[in-house]
Amino acid sequence: MRVLITGITGFSGSHLAEYLVALDGGVEVFGTYRIRSRMDNIAHLQGHIHLVECELKDSHSVNALIDQVRPDYLFHLAAQSFVPTSWNAPRDTLINNILAEINLFEAIRLHALTPRIQIAGSSEEYGLVHPEETPINESRPLRPLSPYGVSKVTQDLLGYQYYQSYGLDIVRTRTFNHEGPRRGDAFVLSNFAKQIAAIENGRQPPVLAVGNLDAQRDFTDVRDVVKAYKLALDLGAPGEVYNIGSGSVWRIGDALDQLLRLSPVQIKVEPDPGRLRPSDVPLLHCDASKFMAKTGWRPEIPFSQTLADLLHYWRSMQAGR
Ligand code: GDD
Repeated sequence: MRVLITGITGFSGSHLAEYLVALDGGVEVFGTYRIRSRMDNIAHLQGHIHLVECELKDSHSVNALIDQVRPDYLFHLAAQSFVPTSWNAPRDTLINNILAEINLFEAIRLHALTPRIQIAGSSEEYGLVHPEETPINESRPLRPLSPYGVSKVTQDLLGYQYYQSYGLDIVRTRTFNHEGPRRGDAFVLSNFAKQIAAIENGRQPPVLAVGNLDAQRDFTDVRDVVKAYKLALDLGAPGEVYNIGSGSVWRIGDALDQLLRLSPVQIKVEPDPGRLRPSDVPLLHCDASKFMAKTGWRPEIPFSQTLADLLHYWRSMQAGR
């Protein structure tokens, strides 16, 4: 079984690669990187995975990639995934996220291949959700509140369209927030954990900067999410869309309190207006019953463990400096 992961150097990509390498199933793992990609997340997997340089926005590069790898499974995880960046650079977010996917689909058609393909959509596609519409199932309206959300709606619907028009074997997932070790430091819990570790280490004054603490998010550990991705391609129906999330919702402020309790240091929390967004999705609560019924997936890692592992990760990064 030849598996291709776009974005293997990223957060979810590196965890998926680690999971697949550890499986005792004759899986050969390939992944794309760009010359400016940071390799830290996959350094421990060197020798167990094959890396292919590819600029996903360039159809020539993608055609060569697909011809070389000829995957049985393709997990398309590469994306500009930080919501605030999408306001700062909407055009780049849209071009990056949409064009990469079109290039992959067209390369697969060009080479007449028939891989199973996972398209990593997002709960940000639902965007504005009224309280009476929660928990959110797959038939809820899509009302994205950021250019990033729009890019993910487009990716999702392109997946639907290429399945309907050309019969590409595409499974669409809409994943809710996920966290864990190696999470980029821009994202909320990782950013807070990094600040706590820096304060403990004396590298930051004991003041932690925060944005909107009233938003509520459905958090799942990334290590559970990547198992769901594998199951999506093992058992998901072609053309279908599935929510992936634990169903446990946290107010960001309450999650921060939990993190702060893991530290012996007294820390003051201070709002930073620069961290507020032009529009913030207020509440995301996942109904993953369709995916669970189809695949038997259940999240196993409790939120408290995710937080502890995330803080441990940032403490060890600080220590290694
Ligand atoms: N990043 C950040 N930093 N967010 C903060 C902060 C802060 O200091 N303080 C409060 N927040 C709030 C944000 O306003 C948002 O409501 C929530 O914390 C989560 O922010 P992020 O961690 O940046 O994630 P996101 O929800 O915008 O998007 C993530 O989840 C999506 C799935 O729902 C990303 O991983 C997306 O790529 C993913 O699709």
